[in-house]
Amino acid sequence: MKYISSLRMKAIDTNCSYLGLSPLQLMENAGAAIAQSVKEKLGSGKVLFVAGRGNNGGDAFVAARHLAGTPGYVVRVILLGKDRDIGTEEAFRNYSLLKFSRVQTLETRDSGQLAVSGWFSEADLLVDAIFGTGVKGSIKEPESTAIDLMNSEGKAGKTVIAIDVPSGLDPDKGNFGKAVYADLTVTFHRMKAGLMNEQAKEYTGTIKVAEIGVCADAEHYVGPGDLQMLQKRKLEAHKGNAGKVLIIGGGPYSGAPALAALAALRTGADLVTVAVPGSVSGIVASYSPDLIVRKLISNVLCPEDLSVLPDLINSHDVVVMGMGLGRATETLETVRKLLPFCRKVVLDADALAALSGPLFETLAGNCEIIVTPHAGEFERLRDMETPDSLAAREKAIREFAEEKGVVTLLKGKIDIISDGKKTLLNRTGNPGMTVGGTGDVLAGITGSLFSRNPAFLAAACAAYINGAAGDLAFNKTGNSLLATDVIERIPEIVKEAGI
Ligand code: APR
Repeated sequence: MKYISSLRMKAIDTNCSYLGLSPLQLMENAGAAIAQSVKEKLGSGKVLFVAGRGNNGGDAFVAARHLAGTPGYVVRVILLGKDRDIGTEEAFRNYSLLKFSRVQTLETRDSGQLAVSGWFSEADLLVDAIFGTGVKGSIKEPESTAIDLMNSEGKAGKTVIAIDVPSGLDPDKGNFGKAVYADLTVTFHRMKAGLMNEQAKEYTGTIKVAEIGVCADAEHYVGPGDLQMLQKRKLEAHKGNAGKVLIIGGGPYSGAPALAALAALRTGADLVTVAVPGSVSGIVASYSPDLIVRKLISNVLCPEDLSVLPDLINSHDVVVMGMGLGRATETLETVRKLLPFCRKVVLDADALAALSGPLFETLAGNCEIIVTPHAGEFERLRDMETPDSLAAREKAIREFAEEKGVVTLLKGKIDIISDGKKTLLNRTGNPGMTVGGTGDVLAGITGSLFSRNPAFLAAACAAYINGAAGDLAFNKTGNSLLATDVIERIPEIVKEAGI
C-alpha cells in the first residue's frame, strides 16, 4: 500500500493551495468525511468531539457543523483551550461558525473540569481531534487527561473515532508514549507511514482512507510545498554548513561555469569554488568578486589536473561538472577519472558525453549522481531517441534512473525528475528560457541544494526554482530574457521558501 510521511502530506497541502485549492476547502472535505463516518457508526445520539488547537481540531469543527445539521444527533465540542489559542486561520473560522450551528461548546485547559463536565460520560460516540500529524514531544495537560478520559469511555464499550491519526501516535514512526485507542481511524488522502507500524494497529482500530479532493497535480508536479521539505538554514550555522560546492567547467567557454557558480551562491551555498582551465581563469574571476576561482593547468581540463582536483573535491560537499568544458578526448577522459573521487556529483552538458559503457555501474554505491540532460543529451546517453509524449518520456526517464541508479532530471518544457522509484514533473519556466546559459544556472542551483539535501528532492526543487525565477524575470524581460536575469530573481524564491 502507498503511504506518505507527514512532511510530504504537508507539502501536498501547500501545493494544493498554490494550485488554487484552499486549505479551507480541504478542511471542509475532511470534516464532511468524518461526519459521514460518524453517521455510519451511530444512527443517532450524542456525539462528543474533543478538539485540540491545530488543524486536526479544525476538521472536527467542520464535522460537528455537518452532523449538527442532521436530525437525530446532539453534538458537543470540547476545545482544549480558548478560541484565541486556536493556531490556524482555517480552524478558527470553522470554530467561529459553530456559534451559528446547533453545537454546544466548552472551552477549557483545566484538566479537572474535563471529567467534571460529564460530557465524556454522557456521549454515545467520541471523536478524537486532539492532535493529528502536528504532535510534537511528550503530551502535556490537559491533552493527556483528555486522552485518558477518551480511553476509559472506549474501554466502557463506546465507539471512538480518531481523525487522521490517533492522538499521541507518531504519524511517521508509529511509536508513542500515551495515545488514544480508537475503533476507527479516518485518515486523509493517503495512509500515513506511522499507521502501518505493527504496534500502531492496537491504537488505530480499523483504518479508512478518506478522499478529500486533493488535486493530482499537487502530488505529481513540484510546487512550493516540496521546497518546504528542503533543509532550513540554521540560525547558529557556521561558514560552510550551508554547503560547499565545487564547479568544474570552462576551457573553450568561460561564461558557463560562472553562471553555475553564481546560481549556486544565490541558492544559498556558503562556499562555491570554480575550478577552470588557466586559459579562462582570469576571465571567470573578473565576472564577480563573489567567485573563488582555482586555476587549472592547461587550456582545457586534462589528466594533469588530477594532481590537484581530488583534494579539492574532497574539501567540498558536492561537485558540479560539465558546463563549458568542451569535448576534447583528454577532457572526457579526465572527467571519467575524476568521478571515483566524488561522493556527490551533478553531471551536466559536456560531462554527460563522458558517460559511456559501464561507468555508472562501476560507480554505483560509492557516489550519488544527478544527471541533468536535455532531450538531445538524453538521446546520446541512452543511444535511443527521446520520445515526444510526456507519458513515454516519463517512463523512459524512470527506467533510465532505475537501471543506472542515478537521479535524472530531463530538461524540457515540462522537466521530468526521477530516481527510478519516485517521479515528479515541473512546469515552471517559459519560452524565454531557451536562451543559452539557463541550463548552467540549473546545474548550479541543483549542486547548491544537493550539498545539503537528498538527491531527488534537490533535483526536483532545483527545476522548480530555476523555472520560477525565470518566470519572475520573464514578466519583466519577455523574450529578451538572459540567464543572468534568472540568477537575479533566485533570491525571491529562496526567501519565500525560507531555505
Ligand atoms: N502536547 C500538547 N499539545 C501539543 C503537543 C503536545 N505534545 N504537540 C503538539 N501540540 C499542539 C500544538 O501546539 C498545536 O496547537 O497540537 C496542535 C497541533 O496539532 P495538529 O492539529 O495535529 O497539527 P496541525 O499541523 O495544525 O494539523 C495537522 O490537520 O490536515 C489536518 O487532520 C489533519 O492531521 C492533520 C492535521
